[in-house]
This record gives sequence, C-alpha cells and structure tokens, in this order.
Amino acid sequence: MNILLIGPPGAGKGSQAEKLVSQKAFKHLSTGDLFRKALREKTPLGLKAGSYVDRGALVPDSITIGLVEEALGDFTGNVIFDGFPRTVPQSEALDQFLQKRDQKLDHVISLEVSDDVVLRRLTGRRWAPQSGKIYHVDFNPPKNSGKCDETGEELAIRSDDRPEVVQSRLKNFREITWPLLKHYKIRGILKEVNGEGAPEKIFQSIVSFLK
Ligand code: AP5
Repeated sequence: MNILLIGPPGAGKGSQAEKLVSQKAFKHLSTGDLFRKALREKTPLGLKAGSYVDRGALVPDSITIGLVEEALGDFTGNVIFDGFPRTVPQSEALDQFLQKRDQKLDHVISLEVSDDVVLRRLTGRRWAPQSGKIYHVDFNPPKNSGKCDETGEELAIRSDDRPEVVQSRLKNFREITWPLLKHYKIRGILKEVNGEGAPEKIFQSIVSFLK
C-alpha cells in the first residue's frame, strides 16, 4: 500500500507518519527529512537545496524527483510519502515511477488544520537532528527538557520555523500544493481528516480509514 500524507506545514504529517511506521510495516519517505540530512552532512545535494529550504521555498522539481527515486531505489514495499509530491510535475513523476513497478498511489490523507494552529505548533516545535524525532515544548515535551528521549542529543529549532518563513511555506502550500488535492479527489483516493485535536485521536481516524 502506498499512502501520501499531505497538508500544510505543521499539519502533523511527520508525527502521524512516525506513529504509522511504529505500528505497521511502512517505509517513511519524507523529502523534508532527506533535505535536512543532506544539509547537515553538507553533501552536494544539501548545498543545492539549503537556500530553498531555509527561506521556505520549494526545491526545484528536478532535484526533488531525483532524490525520491534515489531514496526508493529497488524498494517495493509499503511507503508513506510525507511531503512528496507537492507539485503537479512531482505527482506525475510519482505515478510513472509507481506504474513501472505495477504499483499505484492507494490513498491520499489530507490533514486539515487552521493557520493559527500551524503557527502555535511550529513556534513550539523542537527536533532531534540525529534521530529525527519531533517534539513540542507544550504538546509533546521530551522527558528531559531540551534532550531527545531516544538519543539524549540536544534538541534544535528548525531554521524554517521562523514566523516569516512559515508564512511563505503556508503561501506555497495554498498556491502550489493545494490544487493537487482536487486532482486526488477526482481520482477518488482523497480522504480529508481533521488534523486538530489529540495526536492519538487523529491517528485512530487514519487507522480506521485504512482498515
Ligand atoms: P517538510 O519538512 O516536509 O516541511 P512541511 O511540509 O512544511 O511540514 P513540517 O515538517 O513543518 O510539518 P509536519 O506536517 O510534518 O508536522 P509535524 O508532525 O512536524 O519540508 C521542509 C522544506 O523542504 C520545504 O519547505 C521545502 O523547502 C523542502 N521540501 C520538502 N519536500 C519538498 C518537495 N516535495 N518539493 C520541493 N521542496 C520540498 O508537527 C509539527 C509540530 O506540531 C510538532 O512540534 C509536533 O509535535 C506538533 N504536533 C503534531 N501533531 C499535533 C497535534 N495533533 N496536536 C498538538 N501538536 C501536534
């Protein structure tokens, strides 16, 4: 089964993907995580993508599509796509990529949240660069303040969580990614889920839909 989690920044895509992966046999493919890893390791890809990510702009399609193809390689199991596709060319590339493997995108889960909630979530988000685990100072605090529960590493604030950058990410979502929702609705594979409320409740809505 191939699932896409789609929604504005801070909708909870990464948090819900983490839960799904821990309970079901899925590979979690997050383009945001892949870009952040490349940035941290200062790879050629990181150097190319860094300026886009830091200012909240979309990384060009050719770079992003190449990255996803490389990350999937020969993998043919269940995938949760998180943050990819975000543009029409990316969506077409994914369809072609899956077709070549006699697969398709089975479900698109749209997490719906208001801009106010997005801002509250992103200003309090902390993340662990090594483990990739996501926290929130109020809604999902670590056991020891400022440290990752899993690795003990120092938690960081994402450079693109600055309020002015969040505004530009929200604008990109509305203008560039939003039209994809209509496209998936017409295909009959879109499921809209209320992304506000307790993470566990949202997770249960997703799981009961997938069942
Ligand atoms: P990416 O990392 O994908 O960022 P995003 O889509 O903006 O989403 P976020 O990671 O900010 O939020 P999320 O929905 O995963 O929420 P989370 O679970 O963390 O992309 C970053 C950048 O990379 C892009 O801006 C772009 O530059 C580039 N990029 C990536 N993909 C690309 C593509 N396909 N094409 C081109 N460029 C691309 O939750 C947020 C916070 O809220 C956390 O603190 C969490 O603990 C908390 N939280 C979550 N759920 C709840 C809840 N139910 N209640 C309370 N708090 C909650």
